[in-house]
Amino acid sequence: MATTRNQLKRGGAWRTHLGARHAPPRLHLTTDTYLIQTQPGLESVAMAEAALRSRGVRELGARAVPGRAGIAILDAPSPAGLPAMRTAEDVFALVGYHRAPAAADLLDRISATVHTSPLIANALPTRLLFTPGVRSGRRLRFRVVTRMIGEHEFRRVNLQSAVERAISARNDHTWRLTDEGADVEFWATLLDREFFLAIRLSDSSMRSRDYKVAHMPGSLRPSVAAALGMLSDPQPEDIVLDPFCGVGTILIERAHLGRYARLIGGDRDDGALAMARENLGSRYQPIALNCLDATAVPMPQHSVTRIITNLPWGMRHGSHAENRRLYPRLLTEFRRLIHPRGRIVMLTAETRLMGELLRKGALHLERSLPVTILGARAAIYICRPADG
Ligand SMILES: C[S@@+](CC[C@H](N)C(=O)[O-])C[C@H]1O[C@@H](n2cnc3c(N)ncnc32)[C@H](O)[C@@H]1O
Repeated sequence: MATTRNQLKRGGAWRTHLGARHAPPRLHLTTDTYLIQTQPGLESVAMAEAALRSRGVRELGARAVPGRAGIAILDAPSPAGLPAMRTAEDVFALVGYHRAPAAADLLDRISATVHTSPLIANALPTRLLFTPGVRSGRRLRFRVVTRMIGEHEFRRVNLQSAVERAISARNDHTWRLTDEGADVEFWATLLDREFFLAIRLSDSSMRSRDYKVAHMPGSLRPSVAAALGMLSDPQPEDIVLDPFCGVGTILIERAHLGRYARLIGGDRDDGALAMARENLGSRYQPIALNCLDATAVPMPQHSVTRIITNLPWGMRHGSHAENRRLYPRLLTEFRRLIHPRGRIVMLTAETRLMGELLRKGALHLERSLPVTILGARAAIYICRPADG
């Protein structure tokens, strides 16, 4: 069945609240309210992963810092599973929120929100779940990271000092502002009329992975690779193929999302395959890594149940002209390889070309998700065989 233009534009049900022009519903924070930060466009995937890892998760909303971050907001009464999240770049406790209809005294209102927040006391011990050994106590050194989107009568530095002063003036701890070695990191985000104060619970180990010993320019961020794996709807019987496996990030992230029958990586570059072997080590069995051309994979028809891959974008790898020849051949090969009830998840910045091919019926598009990866607009396509 050919794909309609609307299916391509729609971008999945979860995205509707991000695209909405009207003000998002006001939030009501509790001691269980968390904010998960993702690469832009992947909020819904992180929300789904949080619900799998943590019982009783309730979605409160999603926001975006345009081009820089996606934000999923949720209540999680049992947060013990959240530190294991793979699609998140960071997890925060949301400890302050203000939505103002008018802007005149916005900074004063923000200061009051920060100064009086009763949720900070609960959030401080929660840091131990994510970063064991983090310092607590009466005297705490803090720093503030500020982001500001929209038109305001003050600058970001004014917001920064207002928040810093309000924290310093709190009497629950002796708060001391520091540039380095902070015990507590506050993130103050003003998105148009909404202000969010969050305490960072995770550290940089959430977004980086210890398996990544070999790197290659253009290799995918682990949180994005994990999102592709999540969107493939992982099943224990999966035979997973990544025919552009590069250093192996997608296969490794898929392996961490649950059981599978077999992982298969292919790349035409022996150097990339050597790096993939280094990253994989002896874990993640059974696995096969083969030097191959993705348009002619030496495997039988219908022999894989999942193809999860990051296609050449025509920027660092190949060119747009090459992709116009490559993509139709690729989709034909994927259609041959995929099991009739299988699923294909592809990431690319070649959205116009992919749109053309899908509208012609190369594969059946279930859902597409617009994302921004390191500033570049791209999309994730979740497809089934056209006649499946
Ligand atoms: C498209 S990206 C995938 C990056 C990968 N996801 C990662 O994280 O490293 C680049 C890889 O695709 C490989 N490649 C490009 N064209 C190919 C083709 N026709 N068949 C197989 N591999 C190809 C390149 O050798 C390179 O390793």
